Amino acid sequence: MRQIPTKQSADVKLSVSSDSRFPFSPFPIGWYWVEFSENLKKERLYSKQWMGQQVIYWRDNKGQVCVSEATCPHLGANLSPELGGKLEDGLLVCPFHGYRYDVDGRCVRTLSGPPNTPVELKTFPTYESGGVVFAYWHPDGAEPTWGIPDLSIGDWSKFLYNSAVIRTHPQETSENGVDISHLPYVHGYEAVEILKPLVVEGPCLQNFFRINRRVGPSKLVSFTLDVDVTVTMRGLGFSMIEPVAQEAGIYVRQLALCTPIDEEHVNFVMAIQTKDIERPNVLIPGLSLLPRRLLNYWLRKIFFKIYMTDISQDFHIWENKKYLTYPRLGPAEQDILRFRRYCEQFHIID
Ligand code: FES
Ligand SMILES: [Fe+2]
Repeated sequence: MRQIPTKQSADVKLSVSSDSRFPFSPFPIGWYWVEFSENLKKERLYSKQWMGQQVIYWRDNKGQVCVSEATCPHLGANLSPELGGKLEDGLLVCPFHGYRYDVDGRCVRTLSGPPNTPVELKTFPTYESGGVVFAYWHPDGAEPTWGIPDLSIGDWSKFLYNSAVIRTHPQETSENGVDISHLPYVHGYEAVEILKPLVVEGPCLQNFFRINRRVGPSKLVSFTLDVDVTVTMRGLGFSMIEPVAQEAGIYVRQLALCTPIDEEHVNFVMAIQTKDIERPNVLIPGLSLLPRRLLNYWLRKIFFKIYMTDISQDFHIWENKKYLTYPRLGPAEQDILRFRRYCEQFHIID
């Protein structure tokens, strides 16, 4: 497998237009969210704007997912369902000359039999885990040299999720995960404390901190918890935030999936899953008397609402801030510079 270089050198270039809002590519190398599995029905063709281009995606009758460019390699027809692309017997059928493609992108049939020369659709490597479908984007179409974590359900609940279109860049949204000093001011967290130094290993970054925060549906019905938070990043499109409140036995997994749509906008997906609470009476005495299913459902909804409220507090800042190449950071904010060095590997093109 080819290594993605980590330093800029004479034979690499950054793909940036001169009027770009950011001094780096709008489409960094990496894995990006495409869809939740439950929305990808077998034998249905979908299309969307993803990483600055139109893509189509579908699941064949064996359950395998394909994400590909929407342009037919034969003579350039648009393969999207809105323009006549369709699926028949698990194969994608082009609306122009009827060529048929399998999930690997190979043209397996034309109206007059197998193609005389190989015809291949440009597909993107996919990864499906825990009910989430991702695809890998590289400007040269290179194969991935790294992956994203296993999201298998196990004793986690299904994901609850929502999304927003925001005018920003995945580097900006990811930077939030290491910008500890904005947590009290924007989100109102108290007693913010770093638990361990930032860990950066190739395309993986982890950050560990503790916060104290109020949780509850209203000021009257609320409780205060010490929460240990681990932030795990893979590239810039995948962040997983894992808050744990040991005292009450609360385990939450939040995804922040930031996928560029075009050069200016991202689709920002917020997803959450929880484990069943272990000690509900720590929150409110007598809470354990509630039926467990109902209680866990109710808590999941509350945690999701809190997560969306917290993240949406960042939206207007992300949409309107200017990226400063030389920010005036204090001594306690040096992790932001380490994060930016981590980001360089995703902007470089061979
Ligand atoms: S352009 Fe698609 S089959 Fe000809
Ligand atoms: Fe934030």
